[in-house]
Amino acid sequence: MNIWNFWADKYHKLWVQKYSLRPTRNYITSALLNINKDKKIKILDLGCGPGELINELTDKFNNIEITGIDFSGKMLEISKKRNPSVNHIKMDAAELSKLNDKYDIVICTHSLPYYKEPKKVFEQLCRLLSDSGLVLVGFASGDSFYDKLILSFVKLTTGKANYPSDIKFRQLVSPFFNVENLKIIREKFFMPRIAVYTLKKVEL
Ligand SMILES: C[S@@+](CC[C@H](N)C(=O)[O-])C[C@H]1O[C@@H](n2cnc3c(N)ncnc32)[C@H](O)[C@@H]1O
Repeated sequence: MNIWNFWADKYHKLWVQKYSLRPTRNYITSALLNINKDKKIKILDLGCGPGELINELTDKFNNIEITGIDFSGKMLEISKKRNPSVNHIKMDAAELSKLNDKYDIVICTHSLPYYKEPKKVFEQLCRLLSDSGLVLVGFASGDSFYDKLILSFVKLTTGKANYPSDIKFRQLVSPFFNVENLKIIREKFFMPRIAVYTLKKVEL
């Protein structure tokens, strides 16, 4: 069974909403305040879960067109109810090669640690991103012993996960993307640090 189907209808009540998921959404929303308001901006939310971020973005911006992707049928069902006018695709991140549209912004929050082959995902995201586009990718960072210790408890609720350190993440994306910015969020000492990277395509 997909563990995320189990969490889908409880997701909005999880305690990590307050100190981890919501602060990440707030940061992503504020990072997008500078987007061009004069043209339609195509956004891909990879691992969109139950669509909370999609809902907040569609409320705030009227020039965006979002596609939400997730491999959990239950998560997508909730996102579709919450965001009926948004395009949703049930798909594993490993299958991005099936897509051909171009996106101006790709968002991927708290989903990367669960991908089997994250490098292949970034290769595909590079193909799907417009040349001047941005990727915003956020995840609980496995950068320190303390973070790893807390995350070993989180893993009990999610199953297999790999939370990259800063060095590992930069190695992972370096063939395809440059790191333009890194925002660290830590709301409480007992929470792991959340790293949110802004990436731009490497110029060939
Ligand atoms: C912790 S939730 C994050 C949801 C949302 N992005 C957020 O920030 O609240 C992780 C989500 O990633 C999805 N996910 C995990 N691995 C995936 C994969 N290989 N392909 C597509 N979605 C995946 C799960 O189904 C789940 O909805």
